[in-house]
Amino acid sequence: MPDAYGAALRGPHSQLDADAIRTAYSRYAGSYDSWFGLISSAARKAAVAAVSRAPGEAVLEVGVGTGLALPLHSSEKRITGIDLSREMLALARKRAAELGLRHVEDLLEMDAQATSFEAGSFDIAVAMFVASVVPDPRALVKELRRVVKPGGKILLVNHFARESGPMWWLERAFAPASSLLGWHSDFRLEHIFAPEDLAGAKITDMKPLGLFRLVELSN
Ligand SMILES: C[S@@+](CC[C@H](N)C(=O)[O-])C[C@H]1O[C@@H](n2cnc3c(N)ncnc32)[C@H](O)[C@@H]1O
Repeated sequence: MPDAYGAALRGPHSQLDADAIRTAYSRYAGSYDSWFGLISSAARKAAVAAVSRAPGEAVLEVGVGTGLALPLHSSEKRITGIDLSREMLALARKRAAELGLRHVEDLLEMDAQATSFEAGSFDIAVAMFVASVVPDPRALVKELRRVVKPGGKILLVNHFARESGPMWWLERAFAPASSLLGWHSDFRLEHIFAPEDLAGAKITDMKPLGLFRLVELSN
């Protein structure tokens, strides 16, 4: 993983501004699938399976990236993907076109923290490996709560730092590498979720080694 990318992601809780995100991902879009795409593959599949199980058809995938999840979605869902990075989106559009993914309705350049969708536009919103990259993770959750219908599902999969236990030790040991890998080693559930969110959330450890966790919220 090139240094500049990790450098762009360093800082308190990965507080990146939109331009830094665009610059980082424009530079690494071409190689993304072969490094992070692989590490995150099992967790991405599990998150998409949770999307498929959730009721309703209209799905918003925020931070859709190169569209690695697009072919995994059920053909019964209707997917709208958004991303800040033009280069990542171009690869997602290419993938959807080449694979003839008819369940992909739209791939749009848009900020997940302030979308142009009307309230209640979607049954489900999913954010995979995005929460620790956006400048204001709480604003992300607030926006997802706005665009998802009452009673709909919000799913986030991400690396969240542990407070104790063997993974805590592992994270400390690998802290320098983890920032290079695109997530901040100190990004905690509390950085994104309010206590009332966490009280009602279902949280599941994902492979490999519980490195990622899937958080499911009912809106
Ligand atoms: C680590 S990649 C994850 C991509 C994809 N979800 C996956 O599973 O491979 C993070 C993506 O989030 C996008 N992103 C970061 N901040 C964003 C924001 N505020 N709004 C929309 N997309 C954003 C980045 O451009 C990048 O494509």
